[in-house]
Amino acid sequence: MSPRDKPALMKILKSSPEFKSHEVAVAEEVIDVYLQDINGAGYAVLVAEVDSAVAGYICYGSTPCTVGTWDVYWVAVDPEKRGQGIGKALSEEVDAAIVKEHGRLIIIETSSTPLYDNTRQFYLNRGYEIAGRIPDFYAPGDDMIIMTKRFRH
Ligand SMILES: CC(C)(COP(=O)(O)OP(=O)(O)OC[C@H]1O[C@@H](n2cnc3c(N)ncnc32)[C@H](O)[C@@H]1OP(=O)(O)O)[C@@H](O)C(=O)NCCC(=O)NCCS
Repeated sequence: MSPRDKPALMKILKSSPEFKSHEVAVAEEVIDVYLQDINGAGYAVLVAEVDSAVAGYICYGSTPCTVGTWDVYWVAVDPEKRGQGIGKALSEEVDAAIVKEHGRLIIIETSSTPLYDNTRQFYLNRGYEIAGRIPDFYAPGDDMIIMTKRFRH
């Protein structure tokens, strides 16, 4: 990601029905920290482009205080361009980068609500499994679902 990608990414985040405005604000903070110090942020942000236009992004990094564990912090695809393989391409790019770094475990935290049914299915189809659940984490009735993917070296 480079600074010129930010307006298009913010548009995608704001038009995604899954994200509440306070979540968009946190996503923006995470993006800004990265753009201010691409090498020092402790995580990476990749954008996907279709015909030179930003179509989605993924944010991931190695989890502090672990050996070989990585977090995918955020992923979003333009709502008008979903179901075309863009999220899959972003996920595969991250898998390859993590394997290259000898990573062995990826963690994703997501929501249990019906709004995230497609997202959870997307991760299951990418080889993630449900490793845990924290009831009422995000809000009463909105559990955190912890999904993991393992690589064997
Ligand atoms: C989850 C999300 C990132 C998925 O992105 P996406 O671009 O819609 O996903 P894809 O199109 O890559 O994958 C969806 C399916 O379409 C298939 N597909 C459709 N057309 C395709 C094409 N032309 N090329 C490749 N795959 C294609 C994929 O194979 C995949 O099928 P599978 O999951 O059964 O294997 C996206 O829906 C999103 O932004 N959701 C909201 C934000 C969100 O929930 N983020 C996570 C917060 S925890």
